[in-house]
Amino acid sequence: MRPPNLISTLGLLVAIGPVASVPAPANLRNSTYYNPILPGWHSDPSCAQVNGTFYCVTSTFISFPGLPIYASKDLINWKMISHAWNRESQLPGASARSTEQQVGMFAATLRYHEGLFYVICEYLGVAARNLGVVFTSTDPFDETAWSDPVTFESDFIDPDLFWDDGGKAYVATQGIVLQEIDLATGELSQPPINLWNGTGGVWPEGPHLYKKDGWYYLMIAEGGTATDHSITIARSRNLTGPYAAYENNPILTNRGTDEYFQTVGHGDLFQDAAGNWWGVALATRSGPEWEIYPMGRETVLFPVTWDEGEWPVLQPVRGKMSGWALPSPTRKLPGTGPFNTDDDVYDFSKGEEIPRNLVYWRVPPQGAISVTERGLQMIPTRNNLTGTPNSLITPEMTGQSGLSFIGRRQTHTLFIFSVDVSFSPASVGQEAGVTVFLTQFAHIDLGIVLLAPSDISSPSEVAPKPGKPQLAFRFRAEGTGTRLRRRLCQFPRRGATGRSDCRLRC
Ligand SMILES: *[C@@H]1O[C@H](CO)[C@@H](O)[C@H](O)[C@H]1NC(C)=O
Ligand SMILES: *[C@@H]1O[C@H](CO)[C@@H](O)[C@H](O)[C@H]1NC(C)=O
Ligand SMILES: *[C@@H]1O[C@H](CO)[C@@H](O)[C@H](O)[C@H]1NC(C)=O
Ligand SMILES: *[C@@H]1O[C@H](CO)[C@@H](O)[C@H](O)[C@H]1NC(C)=O
Ligand SMILES: *[C@@H]1O[C@H](CO)[C@@H](O)[C@H](O)[C@H]1NC(C)=O
Repeated sequence: MRPPNLISTLGLLVAIGPVASVPAPANLRNSTYYNPILPGWHSDPSCAQVNGTFYCVTSTFISFPGLPIYASKDLINWKMISHAWNRESQLPGASARSTEQQVGMFAATLRYHEGLFYVICEYLGVAARNLGVVFTSTDPFDETAWSDPVTFESDFIDPDLFWDDGGKAYVATQGIVLQEIDLATGELSQPPINLWNGTGGVWPEGPHLYKKDGWYYLMIAEGGTATDHSITIARSRNLTGPYAAYENNPILTNRGTDEYFQTVGHGDLFQDAAGNWWGVALATRSGPEWEIYPMGRETVLFPVTWDEGEWPVLQPVRGKMSGWALPSPTRKLPGTGPFNTDDDVYDFSKGEEIPRNLVYWRVPPQGAISVTERGLQMIPTRNNLTGTPNSLITPEMTGQSGLSFIGRRQTHTLFIFSVDVSFSPASVGQEAGVTVFLTQFAHIDLGIVLLAPSDISSPSEVAPKPGKPQLAFRFRAEGTGTRLRRRLCQFPRRGATGRSDCRLRC
């Protein structure tokens, strides 16, 4: 039976806009390119280069599929080639046990080691301790090749994965602490070794270890994920320390500036095939007010100069960047998947599969969303888009058992979006439509809804026929406002640090 408040919401955002492709020179002259390189929600990027192809992963919180893998040969054209977490069976029940909106897959690290790609991450919000996961694949262009994860438990978020010369694998996490990990079992050495506390900013987190010229470099994020966000670095001759902080920290931040790109931090470094260093980090295009940034936390690219025995020099993040010659522009990459900044047009009635870049809010209910001859069919769920993290309410009504929602990251600041809807509501309250969605606490919906005569209050010329339900357009916004937003962004949860993707206002 269907209760009166049914909404099946289609959040297809079809983007049309400028594509940031750069005609890079084929010679070795320095390049010009534009940030962000991964516009739209792409926080906490981590990347590696293998045989001239760059691979990156970003955070996905409770959305599903999670941990998208982007590949590029030129650092500009990024193709979404797979998701490390792409099947419910990889983490049975984790999605449905996530009661809150901003838990799930936090900051991952992507690495390649001896023929295997690794994505290490932690899923928050399903237990008192964080659920650590290590996915591996020999071929990230094939989604099905991602393994079921080896799991571990941790009190600290943001796992890095680093192999020392002897071949032992280590996980550095928030704090900053280090543990050896047995990658076959997930077992972590105890107790965690405290490597560094950062330079005094709040939340030392997002660590990455690099070994270069006989030094272990420990690069971290600190200062919180708001406008004080920054990247700092320390180094040691020994993996376990002691680590000495660089005297010119932070090595990257837009703190205290009036730059359009703010909150720059949580970065990773890698080399291109020519040996030049580059880095990625997250940033928000908000200006110093940091109030309105509907594009969310995006991935930016910056050139890095890292001379032998010296500290790395990271170029400040701006919209227009200049640095090392980029590899020649090309879209020649194996596998299937859309490029992040491309426009999308879907016609599911032609039998097209659901494209890889469409996302769900948690794992969708079985059979709720499918491709049929008439198009994409969505069977309404009991819960509408507005959830409540109340454990006394059934998972169906909080959205924990999945929503009839399918969406696309907004990747352009200006876009045109339309969708053809065929909908015949059978009972009062049923609704279908489109939404601009951040979380179940923040969304703007335009729906077609069957309303009871008593609900049609507007003094329209078409007076409701007494006793007869009527189809109506309904525009509603569910928002949290500045104050509530700030409250929601605070995490009392152990192991979490208050990071969130709260960014939309009403
Ligand atoms: C990289 O190239 C080496 C040498 O050709 C090859 O063995 C390896 O499989 C390649 N790895 C990837 C991920 O392309
Ligand atoms: C980090 O801070 C704690 C608490 O003040 C202190 O005990 C510890 O020695 C510090 N760790 C390092 C590596 O400096
Ligand atoms: C590094 O560790 C070795 C032993 O593993 C020790 O002999 C050496 O003194 C350490 N170096 C520093 C700078 O702490
Ligand atoms: C080219 O870019 C690198 C990296 O940003 C920089 O160090 C170098 O000074 C630049 N060269 C020129 C000629 O601008
Ligand atoms: C969602 O459902 C709840 C509970 O049935 C209802 O109170 C609320 O008005 C609905 N919200 C929207 C945006 O449809």
